[in-house]
Amino acid sequence: MNTSALHAQLPHTLRQTQFPTLGTRYQGKVRDTYRKGDRLFLVTTDRLSAFDHVLTTLPFKGEVLNRLATFWFERTKHIVPNHVLEVPDPNVTVARACEPFAIEMVVRGYLTGSLWRDYQKGTHTAYGLPFPSGLRKDEAFPEPVITPSTKAQYGQHDEPISEAELLARGLASPRDWARLCEAAKALFAEGQRWASTRGLILVDTKYEFGKVGDDLYVIDEMHTPDSSRYWVADEYAARFAKGEDQRMLDKENIRQWLIRERNFSGQGTPPQIPDAVRVDLAEKYLAAYERITGTTLKLEAGDVHARIEQNLRAAGHL
Ligand SMILES: Nc1ncnc2c1ncn2[C@@H]1O[C@H](COP(=O)(O)OP(=O)(O)O)[C@@H](O)[C@H]1O
Ligand SMILES: [Mg+2]
Repeated sequence: MNTSALHAQLPHTLRQTQFPTLGTRYQGKVRDTYRKGDRLFLVTTDRLSAFDHVLTTLPFKGEVLNRLATFWFERTKHIVPNHVLEVPDPNVTVARACEPFAIEMVVRGYLTGSLWRDYQKGTHTAYGLPFPSGLRKDEAFPEPVITPSTKAQYGQHDEPISEAELLARGLASPRDWARLCEAAKALFAEGQRWASTRGLILVDTKYEFGKVGDDLYVIDEMHTPDSSRYWVADEYAARFAKGEDQRMLDKENIRQWLIRERNFSGQGTPPQIPDAVRVDLAEKYLAAYERITGTTLKLEAGDVHARIEQNLRAAGHL
């Protein structure tokens, strides 16, 4: 593992980008997006968000995320077309600008995380789905379920929404909604299948979709540890039987650290994240990349912004 590279990169993490000639800039929680005509330049920064707040940066997080999304987009493009046009730098995807649906398509194979927290409180009914009662934490659903949410503004929380409500609000037409569900399920099935060949469980994930004309595309990111949960497969059964937390390679690690160590779950001012926690979490992202793709990543500490600028220039985008 590249632990020393992760430490060396701490002072160089990519917090923000400024490429004034690249297009109209929009800063999301994790990505800086530049729009020029029908093209989008998605620059994945090293920002870490949890509970809809940006907390800190993690060394090489942007590169690892964008590389993983690229890997998955490539693996699944025969199932559902996606927005990727070109990847001129490890942190940058040039994408087809689509008309996004204001819905996050969350697909879950297991009862865990926020849904488990809702299930215990009895607030899981917001999705309008008939969940069986008596399920245990981290138990597999008989079949994956789709629990859509609205896309929240910065600092607000994504709101669970039922199928009936999202149709009533016109967030998708009935025909598009059926297509979104079918696409999300097909992508998730392939994600689970591939993960299982790599000794992992793809537990749940979130997709965003957009349209150009009548054509549907997967947009944003895909099957990354920011948008998905991954568990280590061969430890699942024993940990489940004992009621222990699963070994996770994803963002749930920081959510649990925040709840346990800082009593923070999204309300009020986010706490400072110590460097040791930043490196530890960066290691988890990197481990996820290496486990999922079966390849190792050679990381070189240095100025990420300068490298991106160089690559964008070489590709004729600046
Ligand atoms: N191909 C695309 N067309 C239009 N919008 C896109 C596309 N891909 C991603 N987006 C949008 O760009 C933004 C990416 O930045 P991100 O940091 O993920 O933002 P957010 O804070 O909204 O999650 C998201 O709002 C996402 O919906
Ligand atoms: Mg996002």
